[in-house]
Amino acid sequence: MTGLANKRILLGISGGIAAYKSAYLARLLVKAGAEVRVVMTQGAKAFIQPLTFQALTGHPVHDTLLDEEAEAGMGHIELARWADEVIIAPATADLLARLAAGMADDLLTTLCLATEAPIHLAPAMNQRMWSHPATQSNLLRLQGFGYQVIPPGEGEQACGDLGQGRLPEPEDLFAYLEALTTKATPAKDQPARGLTLLLTAGPTREPLDPVRYLSNHSSGKMGFALAEAAAQLGARVILISGPVDLPTPEGVERINISSAQELLDECQKRLQETDIFIACAAVADYRAADQSEHKIKKTSANDELTLKLVKNPDILATVAASEPRPFCVGFAAETREVEEYARQKLIRKKLDAIVANDVSDSAIGFGSDDNQVTLLYRPIEKPLTDAPIERLPLDRASKKIISQQLLKEICNLYYSAQDAK
Ligand code: PMT
Repeated sequence: MTGLANKRILLGISGGIAAYKSAYLARLLVKAGAEVRVVMTQGAKAFIQPLTFQALTGHPVHDTLLDEEAEAGMGHIELARWADEVIIAPATADLLARLAAGMADDLLTTLCLATEAPIHLAPAMNQRMWSHPATQSNLLRLQGFGYQVIPPGEGEQACGDLGQGRLPEPEDLFAYLEALTTKATPAKDQPARGLTLLLTAGPTREPLDPVRYLSNHSSGKMGFALAEAAAQLGARVILISGPVDLPTPEGVERINISSAQELLDECQKRLQETDIFIACAAVADYRAADQSEHKIKKTSANDELTLKLVKNPDILATVAASEPRPFCVGFAAETREVEEYARQKLIRKKLDAIVANDVSDSAIGFGSDDNQVTLLYRPIEKPLTDAPIERLPLDRASKKIISQQLLKEICNLYYSAQDAK
């Protein structure tokens, strides 16, 4: 038995070629013990027969709003109340637009307005339609309403194009729903639902030779606490971590890296799907110009050894300059003039916000369980300008508590920034 047993899943299907995949999703859900009711738009019925879903779920398909017979059976409001979770797969560009406009012009859109259940959208469409600003802005609006968006996959499309817009495989949609239904946190406490957070944590290691490296004292505690808090607030969390001795927080997707270049490569692979980027990793600013193939030997002739270092890429600044650009939050680890240096980094790296962290105090710096920070951010109405920076000091508390406070604030800033666009 999975967390889906006895769960009431309302499966919405709109009119796209990927509708055929939903038949297999319905089958997987029924097999897992879920009760499944299917709602189809008129467009969906052009791609797949309602009878298929009736046979798979054991219940007639709902497809009309103004049907006396259907309303006498399970009416649209009753159906909206019945659902524990609503998933719409595929969700076409047209459906997203109608939902974003708050329309109730067919049974599926009406149900979405009427239900209190979490709604998960699995968009599927041609890659140009997906990347069109209208679709992207509809998605942002829908996320602001609390809809969760399951990012489409990349690859060859039914129309012959290559790109993003493929409906994820039924097994992946099933796994997504299964993971959700085993989570304990209630939806109303999850302001980050529907958002994908990319987080970096821990130190980097820059090799000098096969046995030595340059690194720093970051334990990963702050970054891992942020990842845990973000997952608890409902976000999909991708945590890219340097070498640390910490377990992966529940529900977090972890990628291990070692050097700054690897960290940059992994970040760049995930930028398209990232809504908020938080750079907590302590990245080495320099690496050896030449990494020795063999162990560097001590010689009796030389009392000194000179290492030539070259600058590493600045991951945060690179992400902040990328297109599309996620909401970017940095950390500034400083030992003096903490807020002033943090403010300069916020402006120089073109960030939305930065967490000023005084690491001169060992009780709140590297490796400690507590922290005390100040969040500096740009005024929402003047993004990426030199307008006076706003500040939010947070009292000393465990890194877990600080993370919860920071994330709630960062989510608010993110949504305000989206609204202001
Ligand atoms: O891991 P812990 O032991 O819990 O400690 C937490 C911490 C002190 C490491 C953390 O709270 C913190 O302050 N992290 C940022 C450390 C740092 O590298 O700060 P910085 O001021 O050197 O860098 C500024 C920002 O640019 C950071 O967001 C950093 O991730 C980023 N950066 C820096 C250099 C570089 N080449 N690429 C970057 O992306």
